[in-house]
Amino acid sequence: MSDLYIGLMSGTSLDGIDAALVEFKEGNIQLIEFEYFPFTKSIIKDIQELSQPDTAVSLKKYGSIDAQLGTLFAQASNQLLNKAKVNKSQITAIGSHGQTIYHSPNSNPALSLQIGDPNIIAEQTGITTVADFRRRDIAAGGQGAPLVPAFHHAFFSNVFDLSKQNICIVNIGGIANITYLSINKTIGFDTGPGNTLMDYWIEKHLKSAYDKNGAWAKSGRVDTHLLDTLKQDAYFQLAPPKSTGKEYFSPRWLNNAINSIPHYKPEDIQSTLCQLTADTITDSIQHYAPKTDITLICGGGIHNDYLVHLIQKNLNHPVSSTEKYGIRPDHVEAIAFAWLARQTMNHLPGNLTKVTGAKSAVILGGIYPA
Ligand SMILES: Nc1ncnc2c1ncn2[C@@H]1O[C@H](COP(=O)(O)OP(=O)(O)O)[C@@H](O)[C@H]1O
Ligand SMILES: [Mg+2]
Repeated sequence: MSDLYIGLMSGTSLDGIDAALVEFKEGNIQLIEFEYFPFTKSIIKDIQELSQPDTAVSLKKYGSIDAQLGTLFAQASNQLLNKAKVNKSQITAIGSHGQTIYHSPNSNPALSLQIGDPNIIAEQTGITTVADFRRRDIAAGGQGAPLVPAFHHAFFSNVFDLSKQNICIVNIGGIANITYLSINKTIGFDTGPGNTLMDYWIEKHLKSAYDKNGAWAKSGRVDTHLLDTLKQDAYFQLAPPKSTGKEYFSPRWLNNAINSIPHYKPEDIQSTLCQLTADTITDSIQHYAPKTDITLICGGGIHNDYLVHLIQKNLNHPVSSTEKYGIRPDHVEAIAFAWLARQTMNHLPGNLTKVTGAKSAVILGGIYPA
């Protein structure tokens, strides 16, 4: 029987909403339609303000952004269905990741907050909505992240023969995470910053949202002393399970290290940040997944040619885009949340305890009926 789901993803990069219409049929996962909905400058500013660790944003403003995002997620779903010419009655459920405004899995109590009111999504689409995936894993003692490795396993174990090849999937969003798939184990964790620090630095100096193709990073030279200092951060030495966010790898984290440098060229800092992302990804692969035969890259970072070049340079096995293996790099996470919603609707766990560190495999998310 075929089953249709919508997956909605808006990650820490705050670029916009990825919406995927996905069909599950006889063990196959097939993308039917995809659309990207960029955020306006004004909602980006609001979310940024709300995501400051010590934000002074009022509860009224918090509630307003939560509701506005709920409407944007609903509109994205409705427009996706229009584009696909599919009726809402055919959709089993929407899986909405929500916008992370705070991720702090190691505080006491541990917490992770995603907003974008799912009541509004269910009401304005007329489709059952599954949301708030991370907090059940956190309640079960896990990191609440990353959640995509279970989907990576479901998808790529059909593409590769894991008895013959070990696969690493690297997702480079604001934060980067890896999944290692082999015949007898799946591991996954956040390696540290993906694009977030590079995005911050180029916005600050050149007023661009991101470093197109990594051209600015490529024009500079790595400051090896700064790179070594940044790499000494305790997060990089920590054994998995581990996850992190923009509140940790923040402008403050970077500026603390830069403040001791008397003179620098901004492009050299960008080059150093690009190298930091590449090195912390490949160090993680070499340390925790040394038997990897092929690394597949997804997430917006795949478009940073210079970053991909640095990753390939550090590894002595092939590096490729997920596109070559049946799934476009910009579609992976939204499809993953369609898959996670389906797990929930089928009363199946969505977390992998070896990945998140949860005490048990649990059914993730809350269900908001149509
Ligand atoms: N052409 C490009 N060149 C360099 N970086 C890019 C390009 N396109 C997208 N990106 C990067 O990808 C990011 C968005 O990636 P995405 O996977 O959506 O992350 P998130 O899941 O955090 O939203 C952008 O912020 C930018 O840093
Ligand atoms: Mg994004």
